Amino acid sequence: MTIPELYPPASITEADRPITPPSLLSVAEKDRLIERGFLGLYRWYMARSQETRNWNADKSFDWKSLRTDFTPEVTVILEGFFAVEQYVPDFTASILNTVRRSHGRSHFTLRWGFEEERHADTWENAVLFSKGRTPKQIEEYKYLLRSKEWQAPWDSALYNLIYTVFQERATQLNYLNLAKIVSGKSDKVHLQGNEDPILTKVAQTIAVDEAAHYNFFLECARLFLYYYPEKTLEAIKDVIHHFAMPAYNLVPDWAGFSETVYKAGIYGPRELQRDVIQVVFRNMGIESRKKLEEGIKRTRIVPLEGGGELGTAIWDSFDYGLVEGDVRRLYTRVADYEQEIGFADIDPTVFVRNPEVPSSAD
Ligand SMILES: [Fe+2]
Ligand SMILES: [Fe+2]
Repeated sequence: MTIPELYPPASITEADRPITPPSLLSVAEKDRLIERGFLGLYRWYMARSQETRNWNADKSFDWKSLRTDFTPEVTVILEGFFAVEQYVPDFTASILNTVRRSHGRSHFTLRWGFEEERHADTWENAVLFSKGRTPKQIEEYKYLLRSKEWQAPWDSALYNLIYTVFQERATQLNYLNLAKIVSGKSDKVHLQGNEDPILTKVAQTIAVDEAAHYNFFLECARLFLYYYPEKTLEAIKDVIHHFAMPAYNLVPDWAGFSETVYKAGIYGPRELQRDVIQVVFRNMGIESRKKLEEGIKRTRIVPLEGGGELGTAIWDSFDYGLVEGDVRRLYTRVADYEQEIGFADIDPTVFVRNPEVPSSAD
């Protein structure tokens, strides 16, 4: 299957900068608008991340006071989280290669890599200071993990972006559900007695990062959905069809880890469906998997001649009014930031409506 590749244009001509929008936006103009959206969001994100989430894996937690008698299940969970985050150099390098032409996306990937890197170090500290594993075991385990290389699940930048939306939400959920267990809020009998305020803070702190990642990638995916609905909905359909957590095929005894998180009520098929896919769908204005698949199928069978009809079918498969509202809100957030810094006076990021999108009043 040929996957469409979407990049910022190699060059921008004056024809790509319409003063008044023409009846349809060119591909180059759409790509430029998406790139400007990414870039504006990335600048906003950087400032916010530094102001509100500038924590450190070693110094932000009282590691010396972490309890050292967690049940073996908690150790397996911590070790699994540590293992997945260990592939951060590959996550970053692999994605970076597919987005290097985009300023917003490539620079964001570096920042994202930095935030993921501290997750790897924080989970390692949790395993080490809880004494669930010896330093020697951790060292050997790390060598084993790093002897393998993670590769992006898709060749396409768009597909990897969509994958990351689901993956970030799933990761956030994993950490929030661990926080429940170690703060005494789990109803699982076999996990009672694992309360610890430090590990609760660790899991919650990392989960906040994951929520910020989820939001960034979600905003980016919505930009694509707004300007390229057909390609994006197709990507969503394909990605959920093949979705699996990162590094599931690299981490030793993934089956053991997977069973432990499943039995702990942290993550399993039910959580994936209800707390990941449904949440992402809601945020993207997609009613259900069935509706998405039907919409794509109908779009395909509509004859392409005349062009117009192709567009009409796809608009039934998601709530484009909601998506347009969210995209407009994103631009407002970027505009406020650019006003504060002064970019707005020199080179503002401006929302341009996609004329293909039916007016919400239609
Ligand atoms: Fe992470
Ligand atoms: Fe993340």
